[in-house]
Amino acid sequence: MKVYSVLLLWCTLMHEWPLCMSEEKKSLPANSVNPCCYYPCQNLGICIRYGLDRYECDCTRTGYYGENCTIPEFWSRVYNLVRPNPNVVHYILTHFQWVWNIINNTFLRDFLMQKVLTVRSNLIPSPPTYNSKYDYLNWESYSNITYYTRILPPVPLDCPTPMGTKGKLELPDPKLIVEKFLLRRKFRPDPQGTNLMFGFFAQHFTHQFFKTHNRMGLGFTKGLGHGVDAGHIYGDNLARQLDLRLHEGGKLKYQIINGEMYPPTVADTNVNMSYPPSVPPEKQMAIGQEVFGLLPGLSMYATLWLREHNRVCDILKKEHPIWEDEQLFQTARLIIIGETIRIVIEEYVQHLSGYLLKLNFDPTLLFSSQFQYQNRIAVEFNQLYHWHPLMPDSFMIEGTEFTYSQFLFNTSILTHYGVEKLVQAFSVQPAGQIGGGRNIPSTVARVAEGVIKESRELRLQPFNEYRKKFNLKPYTSFLEFTGDKEIARELEELYGDIDALEFYPALLLEKTRPGAIFGQSMVEMGAPFSLKGLLGNPICSPVYWKPSTFGGQTGFNIVKSASLKTLVCLNSKWCPYVSFRVPPSGYQPEKSSGSHSEL
Ligand code: HEM
Ligand SMILES: *[C@@H]1O[C@H](CO)[C@@H](O)[C@H](O)[C@H]1NC(C)=O
Ligand SMILES: *[C@@H]1O[C@H](CO)[C@@H](O)[C@H](O)[C@H]1NC(C)=O
Ligand SMILES: *[C@@H]1O[C@H](CO)[C@@H](O)[C@H](O)[C@H]1NC(C)=O
Ligand SMILES: *[C@@H]1O[C@H](CO)[C@@H](O)[C@H](O)[C@H]1NC(C)=O
Ligand SMILES: *[C@@H]1O[C@H](CO)[C@@H](O)[C@H](O)[C@H]1NC(C)=O
Repeated sequence: MKVYSVLLLWCTLMHEWPLCMSEEKKSLPANSVNPCCYYPCQNLGICIRYGLDRYECDCTRTGYYGENCTIPEFWSRVYNLVRPNPNVVHYILTHFQWVWNIINNTFLRDFLMQKVLTVRSNLIPSPPTYNSKYDYLNWESYSNITYYTRILPPVPLDCPTPMGTKGKLELPDPKLIVEKFLLRRKFRPDPQGTNLMFGFFAQHFTHQFFKTHNRMGLGFTKGLGHGVDAGHIYGDNLARQLDLRLHEGGKLKYQIINGEMYPPTVADTNVNMSYPPSVPPEKQMAIGQEVFGLLPGLSMYATLWLREHNRVCDILKKEHPIWEDEQLFQTARLIIIGETIRIVIEEYVQHLSGYLLKLNFDPTLLFSSQFQYQNRIAVEFNQLYHWHPLMPDSFMIEGTEFTYSQFLFNTSILTHYGVEKLVQAFSVQPAGQIGGGRNIPSTVARVAEGVIKESRELRLQPFNEYRKKFNLKPYTSFLEFTGDKEIARELEELYGDIDALEFYPALLLEKTRPGAIFGQSMVEMGAPFSLKGLLGNPICSPVYWKPSTFGGQTGFNIVKSASLKTLVCLNSKWCPYVSFRVPPSGYQPEKSSGSHSEL
């Protein structure tokens, strides 16, 4: 008896002790549902089943204990008191320009950047955990990289409703959701001033790691690099890479049109691209990513990176006259990856975040913290990144309007206008606001339907469970969530319960932050995936991040000074207006002067 009470006392103190867990095993009434369908474990506790109706929450290292990991330990209590609200942090980071003008030039910039990187990355489980087949940790799930990983395990198959226990027995028709809430009525430009140059960059950049392998079924990827591997430039496998390479001076194959360098044709390589059969192989450009013939914006970026790769090869060759093709190619690839990461952090994420803190791509900031240099792309990240509302109703190039049917797969636009004029055109045309609902152009509405269908087949957990996973308070009502009475009422009617709202529609329908491109959840969930993927790259590790990796100081400096503007202007005849943001009102595009302008 005495021993037992000592044991109990121990158990209240040592919540990690395995023996104690069995003391807390919970029995529910017979014939009840799978208890994990209630998502009972709070604060990142893990639900584990024993009998039909018996579960336990593993609260190890959550900072909480109790049956459902709801009782905070002392330090969690303290932390909760001082924990800043994400909206307050966001407000501070996007206001008080004069304060930031000072901080930008002090050590505080590095200090805050380091905080941003660690706080965000720590939300991503690393090494990766679940996938769409396995809702528990195991070796297959860890090691089979043809799967996308998952942040939360799938909704158990035997739950009473599709989303667990809440909501209706049947989810609303995806087509209905898209038509009612997501389809564009009238083009709504992004209030942050995002342009198409950003939109195509987003699509081009992300399609190196979002490559759903449809032949394998949902939940599988062809992007086995699981991050920034530049597979969209070099191909996602060795055979394709070898076909795309010139095997001379480290360079990629190319063709010259109007005196300018472009990707080679499919006819000239063994590389297959996804084009409609009406486009002959001599017209198809051979690019690392097989779908980049889809849009002139994508083949434009492919052309820029091809020229950049070959330009870097020339520089490396000059520095290392004795290097052979292979070493020139491999080193140039690492430089291209480094340039990409720098542009993404210092310009792309900078723009998207709206932060006044000047972001800094400096891998050494993480050298003193524990950080895993690995990354696995998650299904949730893929779902979240379907930013089709960015796309306009039609595309304007030098006063000519192109409809979607004239623009998609049109192989002549890029070579007819040339890179400079397209950069200029895409930099001045506004992109759509991603959040706030009703802004997906009708041409791609079907894609959104596909996202919702996919999330159901993969049994993604409810939006509110993801809110909790990313340290956000679950919404308690549809009105709190959208801020729009009419939409809240309609959503309530369709879903029945805010805890049954689905992940992707929620990200697009959440009320946006004032003057922002999307709402809180897209930022708070997207940023961790993004920063973990960027800094988790091997080139950012202490082993790689040094001049010799990039062929010496010259190559290292190319990485450290890369920008969207240098990418364009070091690889074009003249320097157009180039930015991720539309120009300030009143801006007059310069006449194409024909000379190579100053950078
Ligand atoms: C006019 C422009 C665009 C068109 C016509 C288009 C079309 C498509 C199509 C047909 C799919 C495949 C859907 C499926 O397999 O079910 C797709 C996937 C996708 N799109 Fe777009 N899209 C466009 C622009 C964008 C933009 C600007 C982004 C921004 C990042 C984007 C992000 C994605 C993502 C993340 C996927 C999933 C890719 C994968 O998992 O393989 N798209 N899009
Ligand atoms: C734990 O969660 C279950 C399921 O949600 C609930 O029935 C039970 O009352 C909770 N226990 C405590 C102590 O809150
Ligand atoms: C600080 O950075 C922000 C964001 O890039 C910028 O708006 C601001 O002008 C910068 N201030 C200085 C002094 O660099
Ligand atoms: C990964 O899993 C899939 C599905 O089970 C299987 O078809 C494939 O062969 C596995 N790949 C590897 C490399 O084991
Ligand atoms: C390209 O497509 C053709 C026709 O579908 C096929 O025969 C060939 O094997 C493919 N080549 C590669 C490298 O996949
Ligand atoms: C493709 O673009 C060219 C301009 O480069 C245009 O003249 C042509 O009509 C477009 N093709 C189609 C099928 O719309």
